[in-house]
Amino acid sequence: MGPAESLTNGRESELLRMVSRRTAGCGNCPPSLPDEPLHLNAFDVHVWRTSLVLADSLLSQLSASLSPEERARAERFAFEDARVRFIAAHGMLRTIMSRYVNERPGTLMFTSGRHGKPSLAGLRGAAEKVRFNLAHSHDSALIAVARNREVGIDLERIRGNVESLKLAERFFSPSEFELLRHLPSDQANRLFFTLWTSKEAYLKARGTGLSLGLDRFEVRLVPEEPMARVRLLGESREHENCLVRILSLGPDYAGAVAAEGEDWRVSYRQWPEPGADRRQG
Ligand SMILES: CC(C)(COP(=O)(O)OP(=O)(O)OC[C@H]1O[C@@H](n2cnc3c(N)ncnc32)[C@H](O)[C@@H]1OP(=O)(O)O)[C@@H](O)C(=O)NCCC(=O)NCCS
Repeated sequence: MGPAESLTNGRESELLRMVSRRTAGCGNCPPSLPDEPLHLNAFDVHVWRTSLVLADSLLSQLSASLSPEERARAERFAFEDARVRFIAAHGMLRTIMSRYVNERPGTLMFTSGRHGKPSLAGLRGAAEKVRFNLAHSHDSALIAVARNREVGIDLERIRGNVESLKLAERFFSPSEFELLRHLPSDQANRLFFTLWTSKEAYLKARGTGLSLGLDRFEVRLVPEEPMARVRLLGESREHENCLVRILSLGPDYAGAVAAEGEDWRVSYRQWPEPGADRRQG
């Protein structure tokens, strides 16, 4: 039985009806992600950027691949926009990951670690070594994929109404706060989001979430250098066996990816192609 057929009555099927209603009027449906396996070598970290504002036909396909638990989570969002973005992010994640592990999107199983970090479950052989992490903010999502190394990714829409210095003083390390304190406010604001996403990406690679305080470590940014090292404060060793890479995501977003080891490089992918991702009808 396919995932769409396994929908039960009630709230779950209401969710699919809602997505199907949006499908009406789709005259220019975007293509699916090519149905071909995706490969990672030992040094690759693939970073996928996806829009969460999708054509209805694609949203409907993605929705059909979600598990009952994911549908139940989607149902719990009070606002339709948040519900639709959740469906888009998790459907995208399933579709993209399915190509790396050679399974159908709807058959993927996930499990989560002590602090909630999700990983793929029930796979064998090379597929078992595939790691990923997801981040979403506003209408964009990022997915990092790597082989045999933990990855973490974070994304934030840059907002001007954030008290960045106050937040940095409260949550960042003293030297990170010092770095921001002397900058003009617009630069400080942008750097605040860069640091924030770098630090979260590191925490997400470790899987601890915010249970390891943001002030317990430093991301050592170097001007013009996209790769940064991480130092745990109060530890004797110089830095962690982990690097953070700042991502270039345009004027509206800040983001970073972190991965274990120092011998990796990022390659960017985007799906759907820009322009094919707007809602129809
Ligand atoms: C992980 C965390 C930093 C994410 O922060 P965020 O900026 O709000 O959200 P992002 O968009 O960056 O990431 C969310 C995604 O990260 C992933 N994620 C969740 N927990 C994670 C963790 N501990 N480590 C890495 N990734 C995690 C999920 O895929 C999640 O997507 P979903 O919520 O749609 O399922 C934050 O939620 C956190 O600290 N969680 C841990 C909470 C905790 O300690 N729980 C204990 C449970 S026993």
